[in-house]
Amino acid sequence: MKLRTSVLATTLLLAGVSGGAMADCDDGELVIKFSHVTNTDKHPKGIAASLLQQRVNDEMNGVACMEVFPNSVLYDDDKVLEAMLNGDVQMAAPSLSKFETFTKQYRIFDLPFMFRDISAVDAFQNSETGQAMKDSMRKRGLQGLAFWHNGMKQISANKPLELPGDAAGLKFRVQPSDVLVAQFEALEASPQKMAFSEVYGALQTGVVDGQENTWSNIYGKKFFEVQDGTTESNHGVLDYLVVTGFDWWEGLDAPIRDQLATILKEVSETRNAESTRVNEEAKASVIAAGGVVRELDAEQRAAWVEALQPVWKQFEGDVGADTIEAAQSFN
Ligand code: LMR
Repeated sequence: MKLRTSVLATTLLLAGVSGGAMADCDDGELVIKFSHVTNTDKHPKGIAASLLQQRVNDEMNGVACMEVFPNSVLYDDDKVLEAMLNGDVQMAAPSLSKFETFTKQYRIFDLPFMFRDISAVDAFQNSETGQAMKDSMRKRGLQGLAFWHNGMKQISANKPLELPGDAAGLKFRVQPSDVLVAQFEALEASPQKMAFSEVYGALQTGVVDGQENTWSNIYGKKFFEVQDGTTESNHGVLDYLVVTGFDWWEGLDAPIRDQLATILKEVSETRNAESTRVNEEAKASVIAAGGVVRELDAEQRAAWVEALQPVWKQFEGDVGADTIEAAQSFN
């Protein structure tokens, strides 16, 4: 593996992609293309993917070579899983909301106010129920390898959002998840499924009025610039599954698969432990850049919880009452 200063690297630089040299894979090395949609710095996923690339390329030099493509330069999340099944990309880390057409199990993560914070999410993911979820899409050709944290979601719009009624009548961008659609319908708002790369433009031009996301995404993609303010609601979680093609993974020589799995496990543990800090820093950067942040008092928060509670019942059949109970036990 050599560092590349080629056409692709130049293209990525022109596209505003920074924070990590492109790898130039040698003949005979196993090439692992990792595609994702966020920025690379001040972002839990961006940092983790860069670290994974660095470690694979340092420790498996001559055997394997990872190339990371951030910022949707290769694929949006709605295309990447199909590309993976076609063998055009080997790894990705879409948010758990983006597996809707492959499994209904991940709907638990989208249910509003299901998890108190990221440490409860972490404990659930590491439980037997959570770990089994990584294997839930094998029949559809996908193998989950690791959960990566981003963080808790906040909500923003082109007007202040203090009580749930403030969202009524507004259009909100959502990830492609029916739970998230139901969440905004419970607020009498209009949800619109949309790719991440299109959100800034849609907010700017008024195609949608608001959105929900983590501090690192709100800062990384500058959503705060085109919103009245962001309400610190912590109403849901946005986490990722590092995923690969089942056949590709199973087809690897065992020593290569084992070394990749070990590096990935270590990177996941190291970076998951830092995700909350990365989001806190992104929130501070939003404020430093002039973004308005609104906190909810206990009464306001209780009103949001009450307004969104009916969504649980709607999806209990898909998710399972026992899984909801298991998730709640970690709060
Ligand atoms: C989104 O679409 O809002 C997120 O899933 C983007 C990401 O990867 O964090």
